[in-house]
Amino acid sequence: MAHKLPALPYDFNALEPNIDAETMMIHHDRHHQAYVNNLNAGLEAYPEQQEMSALELMVNFDSLPEGLKPAVQKQGGGHVNHSMFWTIMSPDGGGEPGGLLASEINDAFGSFDEFKAAFKAAAGGVFGSGWAWLVVNSDGKLAITATANQDNPVFTEGSLPILGLDVWEHAYYLKYQNKRPDYIEAFFNVINWDQVGKYLAMIRVGEGVVAMQDWAAEKKAMLQDFLGSLTD
Ligand SMILES: [Fe+2]
Repeated sequence: MAHKLPALPYDFNALEPNIDAETMMIHHDRHHQAYVNNLNAGLEAYPEQQEMSALELMVNFDSLPEGLKPAVQKQGGGHVNHSMFWTIMSPDGGGEPGGLLASEINDAFGSFDEFKAAFKAAAGGVFGSGWAWLVVNSDGKLAITATANQDNPVFTEGSLPILGLDVWEHAYYLKYQNKRPDYIEAFFNVINWDQVGKYLAMIRVGEGVVAMQDWAAEKKAMLQDFLGSLTD
C-alpha cells in the first residue's frame, strides 16, 4: 500500500492574501508530495511495514526496524503533520473559537488574546525548521509547545496536537521572506477554529472512554482515531 498525498480541501489561492497561491502549490504539491514519496521509498526494503498506515508507523515507532526509523520520523512525520495542517486552515477561517474550545482556551491561558500572544511567541521562537502546536498535554490540559523538524508532540512529550503551525521557511518565504512574525499573524486570519474544536471534542470523547485507564497508554489509539482519516 503506497502512501498518497491527500487533496487540499480548498484551492491554492483560497487563503490569499494571508498565504499566497504559489506557496500553497509548492508546499502541497512538491514539499508534502516529497514527504510521501520519500516515505514510500524508505519502505521499499520493508514489505511487512508497507501495509501499515502512516499513523500506524508512527505510533509503533519503537518496534520498527532501526533502518526504517529515520524515514518514518522525518518523512512520515512530514506526511502526518502536513495532512493535519491543511485541515486547520480555511478561507472562512480566522476570528476566535467558540464553544468548548473557547472555554478551555480561557481556562488555560486566561483569554484568547493571551493564548494568541503565547502561541505567536512559541512559533516565533522555533530556531530553524519546526512547528508550533496547541496540544492537549498528558495532564489533559491545553498547552502550547514546539517541535523541531517534522517531530510531532505525541512523541516528543506525549501530548495530542489539535492545531499546528508550520514555521519551516518553505511555508512562508516566498511572500514573507525573513518576516516570520507577519506570517504567524496572517495564519491567525485563516485558522479553521471549527476544525480545531472538532479535534478537541474527539479527544475529550476519548478521555471519557478511557478515564479509568492509563491516559498515556491510550493516547496513541486516540491519535489514530482523530487523525486517522487524514492519511492513508
Ligand atoms: Fe511544510
